[in-house]
Amino acid sequence: MKVLIVGSGGREHAIAAKVAQSKKVTKIYCAPGNAGIASIAECVNIGPMEFDKLTAFAKEKAIDLTVIGMDDPLVGGVVDAFEAEGLRVFGPRKNAAIIEGSKAFSKDLMKKYHVPTAAYETFTNADDALAYLETAKMPIVLKADGLALGKGVLICNNLDEAKAGVKELMVDKHFGSAGDKIVIEEFMTGREVSVLCFSDGKTIKPMTSAQDHKRAKDGDQGLNTGGMGTFSPSPFYTAEMQTFCQKEVFDKTIDAMRQEGRTFKGVLFVGLMLTQEGPKVLEYNARFGDPEAQVVLPRMKNDIIDVFEACIDGTLDQLALEFEDNAAVCVILASDGYPEKYDKGLPITGFENFDGKEGYYCFHAGTKFDNGQIVTNGGRVLGITAKGKDLHEARKNAYEAVGWIDFANKYYRHDIGKDF
Ligand code: AMP
Ligand code: GLY
Repeated sequence: MKVLIVGSGGREHAIAAKVAQSKKVTKIYCAPGNAGIASIAECVNIGPMEFDKLTAFAKEKAIDLTVIGMDDPLVGGVVDAFEAEGLRVFGPRKNAAIIEGSKAFSKDLMKKYHVPTAAYETFTNADDALAYLETAKMPIVLKADGLALGKGVLICNNLDEAKAGVKELMVDKHFGSAGDKIVIEEFMTGREVSVLCFSDGKTIKPMTSAQDHKRAKDGDQGLNTGGMGTFSPSPFYTAEMQTFCQKEVFDKTIDAMRQEGRTFKGVLFVGLMLTQEGPKVLEYNARFGDPEAQVVLPRMKNDIIDVFEACIDGTLDQLALEFEDNAAVCVILASDGYPEKYDKGLPITGFENFDGKEGYYCFHAGTKFDNGQIVTNGGRVLGITAKGKDLHEARKNAYEAVGWIDFANKYYRHDIGKDF
């Protein structure tokens, strides 16, 4: 079987590594991929939004299954483009990926179908939003409706900050048209957990839980990033919470999408806040999380091709998802200065230290080849994952492996998975 993976980050490397374990797979392509993915897949120079080129390539190479890793192409309708050409593809169609593409859509869906989430209002006009803020309780959360690289969420501690936030999103348009509409939402407190679920449109089954660390600096200080590290499982997500979420969140969401004529097939990533009143949905994503995938997939026992096929064919009810009874921690090695300004093109050394080390993974995110040498090519450069019998051991192993790699502006958080 020939598989094409679309994307170029640590998530796609983790997907490719899992696909490579399948006995059914004879060849993997990745568009566009990166220097690490190139060790297990043939990378092709096609961008994730070049739908015509992607489908033409899939036809030319007789690809049996395409897996979409990234949000932008999903929200833009890449799955529809593949299906229109009769090609098999894993991921939600455009009309279902809107669950990630529009925060207003997802909030309205949750309200209509009684999925627990924070109270909110939606605004398309800055004056109305500002008037609403005058009587709102602080802190408060402002969210750009559209995709904003995970950065369109502003937590505002007081009225002045909230007013400045509305200006930033709706008047100055820091996130472009993503801010034409905003959601203003009640501030929630509690532990955050990410539960990535597979769905075939009728059945939804959760993977093992994970937690991301989004802030750039130790102690959850600094700017929001795409994610600086993850651990799995989350000790705070109990079996009791899973039972509650299965009924009140996962099943309800998938049923709601079907009833709306927007059947969701693929990975539904549910971001939860474990509040005093129980779990509530923070956000939905229509894909694997990054770096969540880098701790969840190494712990998965199933042949991932079987799972992808069950989702496409509508037979997920017949498949049991299985995960190892251990833990994993992923520490992101970033370029110093991320998520703002940073240098690229710096040589990276030490990859050979991972050779033959079972339970250790060096997933590439922003890397590329430069004259045969692997160099940094982004803010998040590598994801260093290690497994252990429990979180404590996994954390110790991951930080040991962090020391195996070197590049000039290497930066990472020291407290991933520490706080439990
Ligand atoms: P989102 O992209 O919606 O997950 O938001 C990004 C981050 O902002 C989340 O991971 C939370 O840390 C925080 N956040 C979002 N919504 C809320 C909320 N209603 N209350 C508190 N924190 C929130
Ligand atoms: N790590 C958060 C995300 O993938 O959206």
